[in-house]
Amino acid sequence: MSKSITLDEVKKHNTEESAWVAIKGNVYDVTNFLDEHPGGRKILLKNIGSDATAKFVNYHPDYVLKEVAPKFKIGSLAEGDSKL
Ligand code: HEM
Repeated sequence: MSKSITLDEVKKHNTEESAWVAIKGNVYDVTNFLDEHPGGRKILLKNIGSDATAKFVNYHPDYVLKEVAPKFKIGSLAEGDSKL
């Protein structure tokens, strides 16, 4: 089972030194992905430290969550904090 992480914890990781983002119930550490993000560093930096599910779904084809995001997964959002 993956580690349970609260949204309050995610919110603390809102800098380029430690950049976490929640998407569809999972939490990703994208610190080392900022410079490689095909959509650019700026937009990703603007959305870290939050649940970015709605924006993520708008901008990405399905393969991204299945094939790219898992490399950065560090846990699951705590029950009750998750937007699926
Ligand atoms: C785990 C987190 C994320 C991963 C792994 C990721 C990965 C990617 C990948 C692989 C692409 C290229 C998709 C393609 O066209 O084939 C992309 C594009 C993009 N991403 Fe992300 N992304 C993440 C989070 C975000 C967030 C939070 C935003 C906030 C809005 C965002 C905004 C965008 C935008 C605007 C594009 C460009 C879309 C386009 O040119 O059509 N991404 N991302």
